[in-house]
Amino acid sequence: MDEPLLDPYDHRFHWDPYPYYRAARERDPVYFYAPGGFWLLTKWDDVNRAFKDHRTFINTGAVALEKDANDKLPYPMFLASDAPVHTRQRAVLAPLMMPAALGKLEAYTRQRTLQLIEPHLATGRLDFVADLACYLPMDVISQLISVPIEDRDKVRGLADDLIAREDRQTDLSERNVAGYMGLAQYFEEHSARHAPADSEGLLGAMLQAQQQGQMSHAEVVGNLILLAIAGNETTTKLIGNMAHRLWEHPEQRRMLVEDPKLIPKAIEEVLRFDGSSHILTRRVAADITIRGKQLKKGDRVGLCVISANRDPDKFPNAEVFDITRGSRDHMAFGYGVHACLGAALARLETRVVFEEIMRLLPDYEIEESGLKRAHNPNVRGFTHVPARFAVRG
Ligand code: HEM
Repeated sequence: MDEPLLDPYDHRFHWDPYPYYRAARERDPVYFYAPGGFWLLTKWDDVNRAFKDHRTFINTGAVALEKDANDKLPYPMFLASDAPVHTRQRAVLAPLMMPAALGKLEAYTRQRTLQLIEPHLATGRLDFVADLACYLPMDVISQLISVPIEDRDKVRGLADDLIAREDRQTDLSERNVAGYMGLAQYFEEHSARHAPADSEGLLGAMLQAQQQGQMSHAEVVGNLILLAIAGNETTTKLIGNMAHRLWEHPEQRRMLVEDPKLIPKAIEEVLRFDGSSHILTRRVAADITIRGKQLKKGDRVGLCVISANRDPDKFPNAEVFDITRGSRDHMAFGYGVHACLGAALARLETRVVFEEIMRLLPDYEIEESGLKRAHNPNVRGFTHVPARFAVRG
């Protein structure tokens, strides 16, 4: 059998998917990935249209790309639903995720960032992911879903098990399903331990919604699983990707050291150029033709956002990393009714982390031979980004 034009399960693809995406955009932009039995859309226009046409490209039954995902991952997450089920649940959580509601998390995020960085200052070595980014987002989302400090390594480990893929593994493995069921058991017990009236944050909002009949118990558990994964894996990986890209582009890093107010702009460019959310899942609700290809009702579709974000028909010099670009037209946080609920939180965390990195370790150098990747078709980033810098007092 011919090598697929692009293979979301090939570990080589995770290291550098961009040449494969370029080939797909140029040669077969509506690509049928036969080994997995799903379509991949790689052009910005097609992905954007699919986001907007949420009646044709639906999320119900689209919890993950794998064909067995719906049976093996049974808790209902609101991401994998459509109106009115989705609207009802999103309305419970959305008010707590607006930038104004997150203000008080900034002080916690900075204090925790410093706690994680400071012990390394005297050693001159820090792994941006293994020592910092793998902890911080889990700690921050835990503030909102009340996971105590002593349980966080366990929850993070289960989430890592759920997303880990062996080379060319196209179905869910026992490890993936065990990670998911471990999270389900944890959040079953966790939600039972908390009384609605005494709970705060996203957990409190959901328990109160359950009490008022607005959310079922299974939905509460499913959404806690979703938040533990979404609030953790993607932001961890964005921070690692950003540290890596700024190391590759020292002149742009210097700009941030000299003017930290540029950091939010730089974050948008990292999201566009090397975002951590990779392929999003949809199902086709009615036959549709795209660029001459016929997608049938029931087909699975992957929306390749990081390919769309490098589409030269949308972004001039799309393959050039430029923190001054200032474009927010990327779809790294999705678009439309399912647009990322945690976007403001992810931006806050990443900004605070890079304000402290630029202040405390502006001279860092990454040890390239130590880079290690997580392997997953939906989330893209490193597990290890080791760095050296001049020892501080
Ligand atoms: C850099 C970090 C992040 C990235 C790149 C990211 C990316 C995304 C994307 C692309 C979607 C759309 C999924 C789709 O349309 O199928 C999404 C949805 C979502 N994200 Fe994030 N996310 C990040 C951080 C977070 C955080 C910190 C949270 C914590 C609350 C979060 C919670 C969610 C939730 C709950 C949804 C589902 C929204 C819905 O279906 O209405 N995300 N995210």
